[in-house]
Amino acid sequence: MLAHPRHDRLWAAILPLLPTADLAHDRDHVLRVYAWALRLAPEAGADPDLAGAAALVHDLVNIPKDSPDRPLGGEASAKASRGHLDTAGYAPEEREAVVEAVRTCSWSRGLAPTGPLGRVLQDADRLDALGAVGLARNLACAQSFAARSPSRFYDPQDPLGDSGRALDDLRNAADHLPRKLLRLARSMHTETARAEAVRRHAFLEAWLGQLTHEAAVARPWA
Ligand code: ADP
Ligand code: NI
Repeated sequence: MLAHPRHDRLWAAILPLLPTADLAHDRDHVLRVYAWALRLAPEAGADPDLAGAAALVHDLVNIPKDSPDRPLGGEASAKASRGHLDTAGYAPEEREAVVEAVRTCSWSRGLAPTGPLGRVLQDADRLDALGAVGLARNLACAQSFAARSPSRFYDPQDPLGDSGRALDDLRNAADHLPRKLLRLARSMHTETARAEAVRRHAFLEAWLGQLTHEAAVARPWA
């Protein structure tokens, strides 16, 4: 049972629609974003019922990360969520507030949230790209790219890109940290999310340090 009866109705409708083959965007991601959205809502001045609903529907349409249409996932999810929000009992003005938050959520789309609900959803979704879970999601994405194009965990000659080579996160999973993940902490809107993001950021930095150490041993033969 979720926090509000309307969330239960929404979840029952969308659970069968969530992807099962993509570990980076599975139901557990949605439920973690949901938990953080509920937690952050009061601080941001957002209605927790609407914040939870936004989290539940935010990844309804999942466009592969290596597709040129990827930045449009948020807009597609926003559009697809309308009917489900109506059925779950949200009034038109509530529904549109949720839809607007989902529309601006994505990092790759680069839109700024236009209200408290959007700020809560963006913070909650971005937290899930950091820390231990964020790292697992990053590597799950890299595995899915590997099925379609040459891809590896890191560049064996230069894992951190210290040489000034172009970062390419479709080719090297570790490049996604400097390209995106290590920029997320400073993009947080709420203080609580920022404090959590700083801790998760430090974990990713530590992982990169350990990766550099381990990669150095194999470098002469890589
Ligand atoms: P966006 O907001 O741009 O749609 P998401 O936040 O949905 O992106 O990204 C979801 C997850 O996919 C994140 O955990 C992120 O680290 C991972 N991811 C996205 N792009 C890449 C990439 N090029 N390489 C590895 N992981 C990626
Ligand atoms: Ni998400």
